[in-house]
Amino acid sequence: MIMELGLYTGIKTVSYLCGALTFIIGLKMMGSPKRARSGNAIAALGMVVSIFATIFFHTNAQGELKPIPVAVYAVLVLALLSGTLVGWITAKKVQMTKMPELVSMFNGMGGACAALISIIELQHLYHSINANPLSLLLFLANGLPYGLIATILAGLIIGSVSFSGSVIAFLKLNGTMAKPIRLPYYNIINTAFLIALIGYAIYFVLNGGTLASAMLLFLGALVYGVLFTIPIGGADMPVVISLLNSFTGLAAAFGGFLYDNKVMLTGGILVGSAGTLLTLVMCKAMNRSLSSVIFGAFGASATTSASTTEKGSTRDLNASDIAVLMNYSKKVVIVPGYGLAVAQAQHTIKELENLLEERGVEVKYAIHPVAGRMPGHMNVLLAESNVSYDKLVEMDDINPEFDQTDVVLVVGANDVVNPAAKTDPTSPIYGMPILEVNRAHHIIVNKRSMNAGYAGIDNLLFYDSKCAMFFGDAKKALTDLITEIKAL
Ligand code: TAP
Repeated sequence: MIMELGLYTGIKTVSYLCGALTFIIGLKMMGSPKRARSGNAIAALGMVVSIFATIFFHTNAQGELKPIPVAVYAVLVLALLSGTLVGWITAKKVQMTKMPELVSMFNGMGGACAALISIIELQHLYHSINANPLSLLLFLANGLPYGLIATILAGLIIGSVSFSGSVIAFLKLNGTMAKPIRLPYYNIINTAFLIALIGYAIYFVLNGGTLASAMLLFLGALVYGVLFTIPIGGADMPVVISLLNSFTGLAAAFGGFLYDNKVMLTGGILVGSAGTLLTLVMCKAMNRSLSSVIFGAFGASATTSASTTEKGSTRDLNASDIAVLMNYSKKVVIVPGYGLAVAQAQHTIKELENLLEERGVEVKYAIHPVAGRMPGHMNVLLAESNVSYDKLVEMDDINPEFDQTDVVLVVGANDVVNPAAKTDPTSPIYGMPILEVNRAHHIIVNKRSMNAGYAGIDNLLFYDSKCAMFFGDAKKALTDLITEIKAL
């Protein structure tokens, strides 16, 4: 096969095939926490091979190496080095709690790349028409290259929406734009804007357009990305990030079509479909439809709903009381949440697990699919402290076990254990599957205050007669608890 393609094109094709294979293998390995790290490394290696094959085996139609000017090489090396350096340093330095922001920023960069590719390719197209008037005649005789223009515009629009949407998502997640911004009739405005954008793009494909009108589409798509993201409430942001992620994948896949580059196409399709599936899985875990995430106003009624409910009073326990309770328990289930990540208490919780197990207590962790701020957040966090994977039990499997659990220790989790999801039809989280910790004999909730969680609603669990609050930063509170258990 290599001989038929010519040596260089053959090597490039085989490299691309290896790249595409590593993406698929890497993605498969990411399905298991044990192999996720190696999966990521394998896919990254495939990406490096594909990038180098593109640069060093740049061939012409006859399969001969096409010389690249030294200046272009210099720009490529500079871009690769600076991109690698910025990516490496940022990923090394980022705190676990800031991962969703990083993911959304990296995703936005992918969208921007896809949009820029489209702008450049559109310029190439216009340039080739201007440089060779015959090609214009050819186009006019045979009709405009509809497929080509449609591919370019699809990459342009989707990539731009993904870029500006991801920037807004980043600002929301880091707290700069904490509150959703809902313009009057925002749903109607957004839908009308989208229809106008698509309508104009179709007109452009069918009738051709100037570079200036392509720029107008680019700007329009950027504005739509902003309009689409600003009304979405805090609790729905991870869903939107993964949706934007799938947009970036789709935009990259259009780039792959454009260059007939199989590895770009495969990578784009994998990102696009994985992002779409993840979006749907998260919607299911929160019992929300995608349309209610995009068009609904989650959190608008959040503060009123639960606060009007009859609540009763709460009870506090100190570390020494809880130490006695846990020490004499048969089974303890720990429910980790976002606060565990904020406090960086993953190693302390592992120490508590070891201590309890030494004393004959069975310890498990109950993992809610949307605990934390990104998919798999708790799994990644606990893996960092070497918690054994078989101790992490998913929601559907652990819920029936709560009846036989002596103590549930909720650490920095809130919405994912809120019984209002089952009992209060007026609650914004009504219908969301929760960890049914109120079925256990004793419930201890560690958090710093009575403040609400991400969804901004009060938690009825705290007023349950079986529940006691254990106030304090998770790391400090767990360290105190460990000291007290050791002293028994
Ligand atoms: P949250 O409901 O946000 O609750 C976290 C709690 O941690 C807060 O109530 C906070 O209370 C406490 N906390 C913060 N810092 C702490 C510290 N240093 N020490 C101890 N406690 C601390 O978290 P959750 O239960 O994990 O629920 C996740 C939320 O995100 C849900 O609303 C879910 O729908 C939403 N969400 C997640 C995802 C994904 S993919 N994970 C996707 C969509 C939506 P204090 O301030 O009083 O300490």
